[in-house]
Amino acid sequence: PETGCLSIVVLGASGDLAKKKTFPALYNLYRQGFLQPDEVHIFGYARSKISDDELRKRIRGYLLNDKNASPEQSEDVSKFLQLIKYVNGSYDTEEGFQLLDKEISEHEISKNSQEGSSRRLFYFALPPSVYPSVCRMIKKCCMNKSDLGGWTRIVVEKPFGKDLDSAEELSAQIGELFDEPQIYRIDHYLGKELVQNMLVLRFANRFFLPLWNRDNIANVQIVFREDFGTEGRGGYFDEYGIIRDIIQNHLLQVLCLVAMEKPVSLKPEHIRDEKVKVLQSVLPIKDEEVVLGQYEGYRDDPTVPDHSNTPTFATVILRIHNERWEGVPFILKAGKALNSRKAEIRVQLKDVPGDIFRCKKQGRNEFVIRLQPSEAIYMKLTVKQPGLEMQTVQSELDLSYGQRYQGVTIPEAYERLILDTIRGDQQHFVRRDELKAAWEIFTPLLHRIDNGEYTPIPYQPGSRGPAEADELLSNAGYIQTHGY
Ligand code: BG6
Repeated sequence: PETGCLSIVVLGASGDLAKKKTFPALYNLYRQGFLQPDEVHIFGYARSKISDDELRKRIRGYLLNDKNASPEQSEDVSKFLQLIKYVNGSYDTEEGFQLLDKEISEHEISKNSQEGSSRRLFYFALPPSVYPSVCRMIKKCCMNKSDLGGWTRIVVEKPFGKDLDSAEELSAQIGELFDEPQIYRIDHYLGKELVQNMLVLRFANRFFLPLWNRDNIANVQIVFREDFGTEGRGGYFDEYGIIRDIIQNHLLQVLCLVAMEKPVSLKPEHIRDEKVKVLQSVLPIKDEEVVLGQYEGYRDDPTVPDHSNTPTFATVILRIHNERWEGVPFILKAGKALNSRKAEIRVQLKDVPGDIFRCKKQGRNEFVIRLQPSEAIYMKLTVKQPGLEMQTVQSELDLSYGQRYQGVTIPEAYERLILDTIRGDQQHFVRRDELKAAWEIFTPLLHRIDNGEYTPIPYQPGSRGPAEADELLSNAGYIQTHGY
């Protein structure tokens, strides 16, 4: 049911993720009318011994970051904050969770006068090490008890383990307590506007249907760059590295949407079935198709060990063994402290056979989906250079969202995904078998890296990353085009 009393519990309420992402996303949903004050109550739960007002004060700064906020905005924030109550307790003893349950039940009793069912959403803004104990406590103390229906759901986020075995162990522990339809594994890239657009582009446009295969596509790149380092997160990052932080999850999820076959329908299970098939078709990664880098200065972070070999940059080529994609390299590239902040998908087409214009040197057709910043979809194509001569030039068909959809606010990924969890739509969440298949692809490489079999190549912060990565790309058949 989508109506009835809704209790949202943010576990780890005083932590960074909660303040920066979870509460602002809830606030935005509230502002847009998706969280109705007569139905919803929000509970912050954490170990710190603070009061309701102290938590509200801490969150306030993240909701009103605009110093020139109007009195109305400020009042709006105050109203939202009144929906939040703080409960203090530990993550592995029943006491705190019993108290939490009591608070939630009181809220439900007060609201259930309207004869609604009860919905309980637990958002884990927590380190995964406490996931199993928190799941046990919720199961034991805090499940929905309404006889009028309703549900209990949990929302968890990476890192889901460090490799296949640890991820499977975590999945098994959670899976013993909750059924798959109750578990929402967030990968926030699946909440991005242009990632969600991928299925529409591919399957609602006649343009792409005949084109989207090994006969026409030379290579696919999925690229993530950040122009800042691991500042302040060195401790976490050093344990995981760029492959676990970005590639094995965010970029691989994007790859699935680019490469999957058409699902039977838009039902979440149909879509996820197709994604799993793509992941299961990926061949083992070859050593010579990997370039790792580490930016100079990374180890200066006091939380990073002096001799750390953790990559902050990686380019990895994946090969999909199926009828559609055999021979087409999927180049996944991610790096911190590079020259720009950008995430995009670039689909490069093969050369035109029997080219009478000799326009090859100008570059190939390319289809680009820029996920961020400045969302855009554009096609690079060859046209006649305007003028008297019969000359060709490369130009673009450009759908820039900022121009085309002026005044439209693109929702934040977390906002959209939290709304999905309330609505019970798992389409944009990672299923257990999908997670397993994703770890199967990267675990052998990650183990080799962890065993010290690779030394990341140093690169200058603010650069394009190691030159070896560009070489790998050109060896894989990518032809650099200029301009745009
Ligand atoms: C997170 C990573 O999952 O994604 C961070 O842990 C990274 O290292 C972030 O900075 C990037 O997200 P976005 O939405 O800014 O591209």
